[in-house]
Amino acid sequence: MRLDRFLANAGLGSRKACKKIIRTNEVMVNGKRVTDGEMLIDGTMQITVNGKEIPNTPFVTLMIHKPEGYMCSMIDENYPSVMNLIPDLYRKRVRMVGRLDQDTTGLLLLTDNGILNARLAHPKTKVPKKYYVTVNHILRPTLVELFQHEIDIGRGEIASPSELEILDEYHAYLTVHEGKYHEVKRLFGHFNYDVVALKRVSLGPLSLGDLPLGEVRVLSEEENDKLLEACHMLKGEQL
Ligand code: URA
Repeated sequence: MRLDRFLANAGLGSRKACKKIIRTNEVMVNGKRVTDGEMLIDGTMQITVNGKEIPNTPFVTLMIHKPEGYMCSMIDENYPSVMNLIPDLYRKRVRMVGRLDQDTTGLLLLTDNGILNARLAHPKTKVPKKYYVTVNHILRPTLVELFQHEIDIGRGEIASPSELEILDEYHAYLTVHEGKYHEVKRLFGHFNYDVVALKRVSLGPLSLGDLPLGEVRVLSEEENDKLLEACHMLKGEQL
């Protein structure tokens, strides 16, 4: 890939802006100053702009601990977009993987790997999504069995079986395998419960762990590999 394109993909600006950056700033490739935007970059090269290293990885996948009050949209609408929380370096590069409601907190992924994104979002991939759910009245033990069956969640949609683990009177973990619109709230709604708080704690092989609210981190190589495996993908696949 050309250097100007590489910098644009890394979120430093448009191709034109990056050409200018290359001409007017200290852009180094493997420690040598470069002024030619057409220079070809491969995955082994180290690139810095004014001393700051620009990650040279084929793909990047980020995990954010989404706070309440942010929308999973690319632009601000009724609430600020979650993209406001993504560091400049990555903001132009990544897309959200699925969506969480404005009032849902927890694990949200963003990636520039188109195939990974499509696979994770596709119900056929059946990547488990685990939520910590708080409801408005006492959870009945019989619900555990009921959630193990398909459930009519309205508007002609049937949710596939899910796993409910009751923790105490008002709290449970629910693991779903699809990701239908408002799936968790609609599943509980079917049994006349309101979800008063919802937090996604894991997605496939990834856990939110102790990532602080509002913080973003890049997945480790090990996490990336596990994610690709969960989506039956090979390293290096991209749309
Ligand atoms: N299910 C919901 O109802 N809301 C979410 O944000 C995620 C899953």
